[in-house]
Amino acid sequence: MISADKIIIALDISDSDKLGHMMKELSGQKVWVKIGMEVFYSMGPDVVFMAKDLGFKVFLDLKLHDIPNTVAQGLKSLCRLPIDMVNVHAAGGREMMEKSFEAIGNLPQRPLLIAVTQLTSTTEAQMHLDQNIQGTIEASVLNYSKIAKDSHFDGVVSSPLEVAAIKKLLGKDFLTVTPGIRPIGKEANDQKRITTPLEALALGTDYMVIGRPITQSANPKQALLDILEGK
Ligand code: C5P
Repeated sequence: MISADKIIIALDISDSDKLGHMMKELSGQKVWVKIGMEVFYSMGPDVVFMAKDLGFKVFLDLKLHDIPNTVAQGLKSLCRLPIDMVNVHAAGGREMMEKSFEAIGNLPQRPLLIAVTQLTSTTEAQMHLDQNIQGTIEASVLNYSKIAKDSHFDGVVSSPLEVAAIKKLLGKDFLTVTPGIRPIGKEANDQKRITTPLEALALGTDYMVIGRPITQSANPKQALLDILEGK
């Protein structure tokens, strides 16, 4: 069994009717929802309030990445919404992350502040070629994670395959949020570094982000229930 509060459903659905229908179908399960750029850019803050009204915790996944001041002020603005988790790209650097924490760290009810390390769609070869970062993906993820922790972040987004190394280096309380989850028999889509939900749990992940295996299933609620049952 997997506890529902470890599951974050990625709602990458820009049609507002379909999105509303999906949220209603999945409500009552005590899971989180992840609102990303596709939805937020088309529907705006209303979608956050809609999710909260249906009882979901909300991860606003906008992956901010800009100069430190712009990201810090952007985060402050986002924190006027009732969100429970928010993120920036660690590639924005130490100063950007420090300013992010300074901007929202003292808010009375701030969301968890998370840094994206290497996207789970990125292979090591792509990282070498496109980002000119040499070495292993894991080394890059650990480097970004260490800087995030130094900057007082609550945790990072990574592949489940990197969770054990992150926890070993930075402690078990440093949170890991892991996309790239595929139940057995579901398509990988564009994800490259993947595990099943039970494998992710065994690897120690705190939150697993699952999108298309639920939202593109013929029966999303059943797909979620199957995952919660460890299928
Ligand atoms: O549909 P799927 O389960 O692949 O959805 C994964 C979600 O997690 C997507 O919304 C994607 O943007 C997000 N994500 C990711 N890898 C990261 C960070 C976020 O796949 N490193």
